[in-house]
Amino acid sequence: MLELYCERSQLKDGHTVLDVGCDWGSLSLYIARKYSNCRVTGICNSTTQKAHIEEQCRDLQLQNVEIIVADISIFEMEASYDRIFSIEMFEHMKNYEDLLKKISKWLKEDSFLFIHHFCHKAFAYHFEDINEDDWITRYFFSGGTMTSANLLLYFQDDVSVVNHWLVNGKHYAQTSEEWLKRMDKNLSSIKPIMESNYGKDSAVKWTVYWRTFFIAVAELFDTMMEKNGCLWKSRKAMLIMEIGDEVVLSSTISYGDLKSFYHSSKHIIKVVLVWNTPSPDRGSPSNLVNWINF
Ligand SMILES: C[S@@+](CC[C@H](N)C(=O)[O-])C[C@H]1O[C@@H](n2cnc3c(N)ncnc32)[C@H](O)[C@@H]1O
Repeated sequence: MLELYCERSQLKDGHTVLDVGCDWGSLSLYIARKYSNCRVTGICNSTTQKAHIEEQCRDLQLQNVEIIVADISIFEMEASYDRIFSIEMFEHMKNYEDLLKKISKWLKEDSFLFIHHFCHKAFAYHFEDINEDDWITRYFFSGGTMTSANLLLYFQDDVSVVNHWLVNGKHYAQTSEEWLKRMDKNLSSIKPIMESNYGKDSAVKWTVYWRTFFIAVAELFDTMMEKNGCLWKSRKAMLIMEIGDEVVLSSTISYGDLKSFYHSSKHIIKVVLVWNTPSPDRGSPSNLVNWINF
């Protein structure tokens, strides 16, 4: 995928590059290594991410990377670049007109802005935190937007779309499954990180939230792929969350199995169901995640 971004943006060795929303530096570092005459500037809003990227640069002996920590919605600068990338940051944003106006000022003449965003195939909607069903907004995408595949076509005052590609959800689903597996394999080393990040009392809860996030993403994007973009077709209910103060390492299970598991277990205090089918005994498909306190 990283190489595909470079190919589709027509990146050339020697270009100046801006990576907006660089996260832990996967693309910035990839470009800096592979295109050693490129100078890469990354922007993220996390000092931890900046420190991680700088450590990687030291280990890899890269001297062509600079990371700026800033909130992009208020950040201004005079610089301009040959290529600007933004990989999965637009989902965290709102005012695309203002954002694209700002970014367009950082483009040189004849340069390209390459944006990758995940999207619903037809509808854009706000991530809204109205009730407990909206946990993914509350904990992971507060203030963000589920973009639609065509959304950016409506914002062409300061930039013009010259090409666009659709990518199905298969690999995103597989990646999320893989994150889940790695998390489950490394729970004992993850525990102190969760405790220091979220506090001792909330560490188990947050471990569960992350597991839920990975499973929900895998299910959603896999469903979109399998059903050719048609959401809310029958697959399966899934995941058990907390048993006592232990995190339960469940994979997805059928709704029937979940029910019998619940009835045979003495210890379950909380079960989360994530489903994607409108079925009379499961309630509304819009209740993607339902908390059930038994
Ligand atoms: C999903 S990650 C991006 C993934 C990354 N581009 C990659 O290719 O691996 C979202 C990024 O957006 C950044 N971000 C979110 N809101 C931001 C804001 N208001 N200002 C700057 N960066 C922001 C986060 O710091 C994070 O780096």
